[in-house]
Amino acid sequence: MDFLNEKARELRQGEIRAMFDQAAAMEDVISMGIGEPDMPTPELVCRAASEALRKGITHYTPNAGTMQLREAVAGYSSVSALGYDPAREIIITNGGMGALSLLFLVLLNEGDEVLIQDPQWLNYAVQVRYCGGVPVRVPTCSEDGFQMRPEAIEGLITPRTKALMINSPNNPTGGVASPAQLEAMAAVARKHDLLVISDEVYNTLFYTGEPCCSIAALEGMKERTVVINSFSKSYAMTGWRIGYAAGPAGIIDRMVKCQENFNACANAPGQYAAAAALKHPELSLELRDVFAQRRDVLLEGLAEIDGISCCPPEGAFYAFPDISAFGMSSQMFCRQLLERQRLVCIPGSAFGVCGEGHIRMAYTCDVPVLRAGLERLARFCEEVRP
Ligand SMILES: Cc1ncc(COP(=O)(O)O)c(C=O)c1O
Repeated sequence: MDFLNEKARELRQGEIRAMFDQAAAMEDVISMGIGEPDMPTPELVCRAASEALRKGITHYTPNAGTMQLREAVAGYSSVSALGYDPAREIIITNGGMGALSLLFLVLLNEGDEVLIQDPQWLNYAVQVRYCGGVPVRVPTCSEDGFQMRPEAIEGLITPRTKALMINSPNNPTGGVASPAQLEAMAAVARKHDLLVISDEVYNTLFYTGEPCCSIAALEGMKERTVVINSFSKSYAMTGWRIGYAAGPAGIIDRMVKCQENFNACANAPGQYAAAAALKHPELSLELRDVFAQRRDVLLEGLAEIDGISCCPPEGAFYAFPDISAFGMSSQMFCRQLLERQRLVCIPGSAFGVCGEGHIRMAYTCDVPVLRAGLERLARFCEEVRP
């Protein structure tokens, strides 16, 4: 007897996890596959969590999250200038993923379409489909830095299009949308009455130019944007599962109702610690400086490998080099790289058809390991160069 529903039966293991499973059976593997900071959560944040436990902050919180953390998000986060009302326009969730899933649950009717960049982190499309929606991929190319062109977005809009996903800085490309690109996408959203979902989980990790700005800050956009963010990447807190969404009160209210019925709230000591973290933005700047140095090491190393070209990533902790000169699919490239040199990278095709010809390299390991990984990649490229 099969008790599962059709959607659950269709769930497949993602390409990233598949690579990790293969690597787990091998020894002396270097991983440049993992999308999380490798450093410990800052001491100050851990101390705040212990304090919460000692104070007995171990119970359910309001479904929307503690007022202390919602106020901190409204007051200290990157969206503070937007004046979100902590009582009505902010919800604390189980990481950014928790915010995204609640949002898709309250947003999508069967057949509603959501525009998603190609290539893009896998989970959006899976969540959209699970919630009855249709992910519609917006093709991009390396010549455009994998940024969505407004005309490409417009060409895919139908009467069923409900939302446009934006993820800047981007996973997997490391690209950052310029203010002009954000404005162009905002114009499309305004013209076609679309909701914008702006996933800003990497917004503290930028290496060139000004701090990333949110599309929600552009004229007429706050009321049609839901900003998603989390503490995972900015404070090395992936396992704490604390994130948030900020957006129109009507949408946030429904997400809170959903949270009430599905998972009650995000973990209480974690919320307490996250509020402490927000008061110390220098902690995320310190993390960024570490990644900035690694990024330089990675780019220097890649520049020395014949056959690989890489446009410098501007944010997050991923590079997305072009490996098409080697005449094999990105999946074959990564599988052989793992088998022959025990180095984990993620095939670009895992993120959509437009990612083919590229691999995602996460610089989430310290500099000596990064250098060793680059040596392995160089040896592999030497061996397989046509
Ligand atoms: C683009 C993007 N958004 C959201 C997330 C979710 O992160 P978390 O649920 O840990 O906050 C990730 C994690 O890899 C990501 O890459």
